[in-house]
Amino acid sequence: MFDIKVFEELPDEERYKSMVDAMGGLLSSDESSLTNLCNASSLINALLFNVSWCGFYILNGDELVLGPFQGMPACTRIKIGRGVCGSAAQKRETVVVDDVSMFDGHIACDAASKSEIVVPIIKDGVLYAVLDVDSKEAGRFTSLEKEYLEKAVQIINKFVDWKAL
Ligand code: SME
Repeated sequence: MFDIKVFEELPDEERYKSMVDAMGGLLSSDESSLTNLCNASSLINALLFNVSWCGFYILNGDELVLGPFQGMPACTRIKIGRGVCGSAAQKRETVVVDDVSMFDGHIACDAASKSEIVVPIIKDGVLYAVLDVDSKEAGRFTSLEKEYLEKAVQIINKFVDWKAL
């Protein structure tokens, strides 16, 4: 169904474009929102490379609660305004951290994590979740990853009914 080899040789931007295209093909309005989020996290994890953790935290009250992800077990609840995730949620903008040790309040779920990007997920003006991606490589996430992860989130938003989760 999904052959990673097709994508492995592509330069980063081409691979990221393919990721966004593949996201539209992989997710389906016939499947549940939970199912779609599981496959979305898997696709991003497979095509970004050098990623140690990738997944969703879903807003519940004033907390972000761990949702579908790829990687090691992670902290389950993050208050709005706390850590990189809570900060992106509060600001409602993507936060890129080149060196997590320099980010005041960074929540270390994995001590080996060096850099991180968090994209807020907003639909019709309402914040529903964040997409969090971590790497063991410092400075892993550039404006290119930001651009394509934000595009991926737009596709994910079309196939996820956040209120149903
Ligand atoms: N580092 C995040 C916490 C989530 S884990 O990286 C999976 C943060 O500071 O919000």
